[in-house]
Amino acid sequence: MASLLPRATKRLRLANTSSFVCTDCRRRAFASSIRHTQQQPTPSQHASQGEKTTHFGFATVAEEEKASKVRSVFSSVASNYDTMNDLMSLGIHRLWKDHFVRSLNPGVRTSATGPPEGQTILDIAGGTGDIAFRMLDHATTINRDSLTKVIVSDINPEMLGEGKKRFSTSPYMHAGRVSFLEANAEDLSAVPSASVDLYTVAFGIRNFTHKDKALAEAFRVLKPGGVFACLEFCPRLSNSLMNGFYKRWSFGAIPLIGQVVAGDRDSYQYLVESIERFPSQTEFAGMIKDAGFLVPGERGEDGQIEGGWEDLSLGIAAIHKGVKPAQRAL
Ligand SMILES: C[S@@+](CC[C@H](N)C(=O)[O-])C[C@H]1O[C@@H](n2cnc3c(N)ncnc32)[C@H](O)[C@@H]1O
Repeated sequence: MASLLPRATKRLRLANTSSFVCTDCRRRAFASSIRHTQQQPTPSQHASQGEKTTHFGFATVAEEEKASKVRSVFSSVASNYDTMNDLMSLGIHRLWKDHFVRSLNPGVRTSATGPPEGQTILDIAGGTGDIAFRMLDHATTINRDSLTKVIVSDINPEMLGEGKKRFSTSPYMHAGRVSFLEANAEDLSAVPSASVDLYTVAFGIRNFTHKDKALAEAFRVLKPGGVFACLEFCPRLSNSLMNGFYKRWSFGAIPLIGQVVAGDRDSYQYLVESIERFPSQTEFAGMIKDAGFLVPGERGEDGQIEGGWEDLSLGIAAIHKGVKPAQRAL
């Protein structure tokens, strides 16, 4: 694991934590872990005052403000994003992403009818390109497919810029197998309907203002038979003891690491708060189904989806999938 973190750990060592972080900041770190358990006002409470509102972490903001607030969080974290991901997850996000991509097995296999065309993969909230790289590596090395292409799409030009930098020296860029699209996931008008084989979104959807609109756009751009796949953090672990430890770590350590390594406490405070606000696995599976996808689970007696996802690391994160139904012959 240490080999995953050389640059970041060096920076941490240089920044002697005890002298670098003021007492007040350390107190705030632990106060925030208490804060997250307290009752937060819900958007509907504010909506009664006449304004459409939504969550921004634990804050309630006007709906139209959220996208720009999220954009400024990711503009601020873009240059440190990859290092911080390794530090915050102790490198485990790499294993989750590897598993996510393997489970989707991107790339065309042999085709019985005509020459293979390669898949079109749309990686939404693709950021610095972590998923796109893995998709292309998997298609190329496992499925011997040099045709499959990935469109990396993100609302934030700075995150896309980091991705372009990473891809600039890769053979995929020169082969025209990766392209970049700046767009809000809730409005993918630049992407034609029924043009995408695989839609992926990793650690992005919890930041969207209207998740239902993004799911409707995913459904529209996918071809019949196309797959929607989402890797996202879950709001809580099913084991309450482990959940306590995990929340203590995430609310105590992550904003502190953000402050020490990236000089930006607030953005990382938002990132952990936004996880709390994301729907549970059952609720999210229901949203995917409501958007029109076929999901592997069944509705239970309470009407909620059961078992339509895969938990990772005790449910710290989960993979949800949905298939756009193939058109029926008339
Ligand atoms: C935590 S990063 C994940 C990046 C990448 N998928 C990964 O797994 O490393 C979340 C990304 O979501 C993007 N994002 C947030 N809201 C968005 C929206 N409404 N539409 C598209 N992208 C959005 C952010 O700009 C950011 O790059």
